[in-house]
Amino acid sequence: MGIKILGTGSYAPKRILTNADLEKIVDTSDEWIRTRTGIEERHIAADNETASDMAEKAANNALDMAGISVDEIDLIILATVSGDRPFPSTACILQKKIKAKNAVCFDVQAACSGFLFGIEIINSMMNSNPNFKKALVIGVEKITYLTDWKDRNTCILFGDGAGAMVLEHKDGASGVIASKIATDGTYTDILEVPAGGSAKPIDEKVLEERSQYIRMQGQEVFKLAVTSMVNASKEVLEQAGMEASDIRWLVPHQANLRIIKAVGKRLGLTEENVYINVNKYGNTSAASIPIAVDELVRAGKIERGEYLLLTAFGAGLTWGASLIQW
Ligand code: UT7
Repeated sequence: MGIKILGTGSYAPKRILTNADLEKIVDTSDEWIRTRTGIEERHIAADNETASDMAEKAANNALDMAGISVDEIDLIILATVSGDRPFPSTACILQKKIKAKNAVCFDVQAACSGFLFGIEIINSMMNSNPNFKKALVIGVEKITYLTDWKDRNTCILFGDGAGAMVLEHKDGASGVIASKIATDGTYTDILEVPAGGSAKPIDEKVLEERSQYIRMQGQEVFKLAVTSMVNASKEVLEQAGMEASDIRWLVPHQANLRIIKAVGKRLGLTEENVYINVNKYGNTSAASIPIAVDELVRAGKIERGEYLLLTAFGAGLTWGASLIQW
């Protein structure tokens, strides 16, 4: 039993949309966005840049860091809510692009918590089936295609990007020490894309109501996000018999600086131990945690053997936490 993290990678599209740019699109201000969310800018995928294109770049970066050939990968789990097409899975499209011919590939849909769900699934599959030895887990979003650029409540929040991690099954390794994933379907309506699925296919009425785009009850989501991430984090620390002070970095889902700070504070962590990059990316949903982890690793801000506590929250509702050792 055991998992080792071999490498990480990430990618953000070239185009940057600043708060000043948004001031020209909706009735908002740089000051409001910074104060209420901490976001300064976000990356936006080009029209012809797909989720699988971004995933390809993040995956190749992670494979390079891991120093392994793509032929060694036998499992790919890709978390997204903004994949290339309804089917086939974006994981299979990625498989073709990176030529991962020996892998089994599938998508996971758990919104902003998707990457943590992917880690949990990989951990379980690798520790129960000897056929799975090396895996890629990816969080990718072209979520700006679901963004209503006329809705100032939501369009200021989101950005596109991808992050990836290569994991290896290795007896005795403690890459994934403890984890928790959870859902509560009673809150499906507080953060949703109402149309565009089989329940409400896109038609003229949908387009008129703009219900093919993200809708969110921000304050309700805010409160549930803080309590859920704090509770999940405490639970995995307890499972591992560790204290928050043992953690080098808390890496919370990057949705809002006020949420991130509230979670850090309730776990008793100081700002030096809470990783923040929401200012540069906005909320990239499933990509947010792997992008943050990759930044930490590549900036040399985490040493081998140190601990990261990852925690996320998103539509579903979904949430979770993973305690990992780099
Ligand atoms: O990734 C999944 C998890 N997602 C989240 O965790 C997001 C959670 N929610 C949030 O981050 C915050 O609720 C928001 C950033 C979305 C909103 O912040 P808030 O402090 O909850 O603001 P609010 O919705 O209560 O709105 C306050 C005021 C309202 O005006 P009135 O009614 O007080 O006159 C809004 O109309 O701010 C107004 N407002 C804006 N003003 C300028 C809302 N959006 C904007 C805007 N620019 N972009």
